[in-house]
Amino acid sequence: MLRISVLVSGGGTNLQAIIDGIENGFIQGAELVQVISSNPEAYSLERAKKHKVPYMVIDKTNYPDKMERTKATLSALEEAQTDLVILAGYMCILESGLIEAYRGRIINIHPSLIPQFCGAGFYGKHVHEAVLAAGVLESGATVHYVDEGVDTGPIIIQEKVPVLEGDTPETLAARVLETEHKILPKAIKIVIASMAAEIGDR
Ligand code: GAR
Repeated sequence: MLRISVLVSGGGTNLQAIIDGIENGFIQGAELVQVISSNPEAYSLERAKKHKVPYMVIDKTNYPDKMERTKATLSALEEAQTDLVILAGYMCILESGLIEAYRGRIINIHPSLIPQFCGAGFYGKHVHEAVLAAGVLESGATVHYVDEGVDTGPIIIQEKVPVLEGDTPETLAARVLETEHKILPKAIKIVIASMAAEIGDR
């Protein structure tokens, strides 16, 4: 079984999509071994509790030094013998030490059609505000591998979502989230298959 750790900061509807995907058998060959939240108030923690997933908080405010936060996160991932790291609404930028340790084994979900509306400053609601301000007719969601850049790693799966007249950042976010919940479990399946093939090749 491939061991998944999920990093979160907020409500955790994507975390829920992962939990559901594992519980209903859509995602096979993997187990969720840990949830790490950067925010002690995150509703994600309630979801972890409810589904008996071990969780911990690595609070930004307790680790003002990014390097120390990376160290703590890395040791939590290693302690849980993590194979795959999923950033699901994780509002921190990972330091290169962690990316190096888990190269090709960290994925992120982003609420736009990368390479549009991504990079530094584009997260959560800011993404949808920028999409509406630009007046584009479509947005979407992307799951990609994480590299040293912000939202620059290879794309695993991407799906478009229409922008409708009268949309607010909230209505657009809700429509994009529905698509995120569909593509994230699919992307995880793709990643698990490719990791399994890699192990088979050794
Ligand atoms: C999601 O829309 C996710 O794509 C976004 O935050 C939201 C978290 O929702 N992530 C980013 O903006 C990262 N750059 P959730 O907590 O309900 O899963």
